[in-house]
Amino acid sequence: MTTPPARPVPANAYGDDVERVLVTEDELHTRIQQMADKVSAKFGDEDDDIILIGVLKGAVFFITDFARALTIPSQMEFMAVSSYGNQTSSSGVVRILKDLDRDITGRNVIIVEDIIDSGLTLSWLIKNLKNRGPKSLGVVALLRKPDAVKTKLDLELQDLGFDLPNEFVVGYGLDFAERYRDLPFVGVLRPSVYR
Ligand code: IMP
Ligand code: MG
Repeated sequence: MTTPPARPVPANAYGDDVERVLVTEDELHTRIQQMADKVSAKFGDEDDDIILIGVLKGAVFFITDFARALTIPSQMEFMAVSSYGNQTSSSGVVRILKDLDRDITGRNVIIVEDIIDSGLTLSWLIKNLKNRGPKSLGVVALLRKPDAVKTKLDLELQDLGFDLPNEFVVGYGLDFAERYRDLPFVGVLRPSVYR
């Protein structure tokens, strides 16, 4: 895992709250196109549309850009989950707040995830969705923190956008207290924002 170099912070709606940019808007879009091309190639010969599943709310920006970068038809489903645990670490015990609207039995399904931290939420989700009998189940994740490398997600993880250092990041869907999701890049907040 290499720490990406710091880049100038573009003018944005949050003044100087963002201290460093880890992934620029251009880098996000270039990488997402590469990830989408792989999925388009892999599922290009399938009869059925693939189903993309996004976990609310963090994955919303990624899933919509990813779907538009595909050259094959995809359908979109959303889930909302809450993990039991404290504020900063997830316990791996998950409650479904909003379930899928449709049956995924016999379908090619891809979980489109914003960030894998401990990986516990994703592990739970994979198990839950596998039980519904999809034809195939894969994961594309945009970002990954170092702790995730310890969890056994390798089999399902089809593609990963960027490995990040162990820092709390915001932007491109990721929030701090529901703010900063609308930033077009991924960055690190100035510590004074937390106080
Ligand atoms: P975990 O992989 O079960 O530990 O939890 C992953 C979830 O925690 C993600 O889907 C995010 O919603 C949230 N999360 C983890 N790290 C960050 C971060 O750096 N910024 C914002 N949200 C994060
Ligand atoms: Mg999330």
